[in-house]
Amino acid sequence: MTDLSQPNLPGALPDKRQVAASFSRAAASYDSVAALQRAVGRNVLERLPQPLTAPRWLDLGSGTGFFSRILAERYGDGGVAVDLAEGMLDHARQQGGARHHVAGDAERLPLQDGCFDLIFSSLALQWCGQFSAVLDEAARVLRPGGLFAFSSLCVGTLDELRTSWQAVDGQVHVNRFRHFDDYLRLTGDSSLQVLDLQRQAHVLHYPDVRSLTHELKALGAHNLNPGRPTGLTGRARIDGLLRAYERFRDPQGLPATYQVVYGVLRKPLMGED
Ligand SMILES: C[S@@+](CC[C@H](N)C(=O)[O-])C[C@H]1O[C@@H](n2cnc3c(N)ncnc32)[C@H](O)[C@@H]1O
Repeated sequence: MTDLSQPNLPGALPDKRQVAASFSRAAASYDSVAALQRAVGRNVLERLPQPLTAPRWLDLGSGTGFFSRILAERYGDGGVAVDLAEGMLDHARQQGGARHHVAGDAERLPLQDGCFDLIFSSLALQWCGQFSAVLDEAARVLRPGGLFAFSSLCVGTLDELRTSWQAVDGQVHVNRFRHFDDYLRLTGDSSLQVLDLQRQAHVLHYPDVRSLTHELKALGAHNLNPGRPTGLTGRARIDGLLRAYERFRDPQGLPATYQVVYGVLRKPLMGED
C-alpha cells in the first residue's frame, strides 16, 4: 500500500488522501456521468501505433476499470490496474479486466523496474503535483521500447466556471491545472522520447450550472484545492454564480471547456538517444 500521507506541493494541488477519498466515494456514480472520460480514453487508444503487442500493460489511474477491460480485450489479460482510490479499485476488481489491482501513486509506483510494454493513463495525471516524477516512474517501470500513452488536463479547463466564481468572490472554486507549455517542457526534459504531444479542446454543454456541478461531484472531480471555500455556499453567492455563468450561454446551453493534453512517449532502446 502506498503511503499517502506525504503532503503535496503547498497551495498547488489537493492532498492525495482527499483525492483518494473523493474518488472512492464517486466509484458507484462515476460510470453514469463519464461520457467525456470515455471519449478521451478512446482518443488515447487511437493514438497508439497499430499493430501493437503489449501483453504486460499498466492502466495508471484506472478508476472503475472501464479502459482496463478494453486493454484486456486488445492486449490480453496480463495487465495491472493502479489507482490511488481503494473504492475505485474495489469497484474495478468486481468487473474484471486487469489481473492485478494495486493501490498506488503515479508519482511513486509500487512496481518493479522494466516490467511493462505499455502504460495507458487517461485523465488521472492532472492530480499529480510532480509531473516529472510521473515521467521518471513511467521510464523506470517500462521496458526499453515500451510506450507511455496518456491524457491529462491543462490550463483552460473549466475556465467558464472559474471566471464566473471569480466574478462572485475571487476565491478558488475550480481545481488548478498545469500549463500546456509545462507538459511540453517536462516531457522534453525527460528520458522518454516524445512521439506525440498535443492539446485539444472538448466543449460540453449543460442546461444549467447545477447540472455541471452535480456531474463534477458524481465524477469525484469537484474542487478539492487547498484554499477552497469551506462550509455552505450562501444563496446570494450561488445566485451571483448563476448570473455570471449565464454570460457564457450559447445556443447549445452553458459551455464547459476541457483542455485535454494527449501524449505518446517511448522509452528508448539500449544505445538509442
Ligand atoms: C477521472 S478518473 C479517470 C479514471 C479512468 N482512467 C477513466 O478514464 O475512466 C481519475 C482517477 O485517477 C485516480 N488518481 C488520481 N491521482 C492519482 C495518482 N496520483 N496515482 C494514481 N491514481 C490517481 C483517481 O483516484 C481516479 O480514479
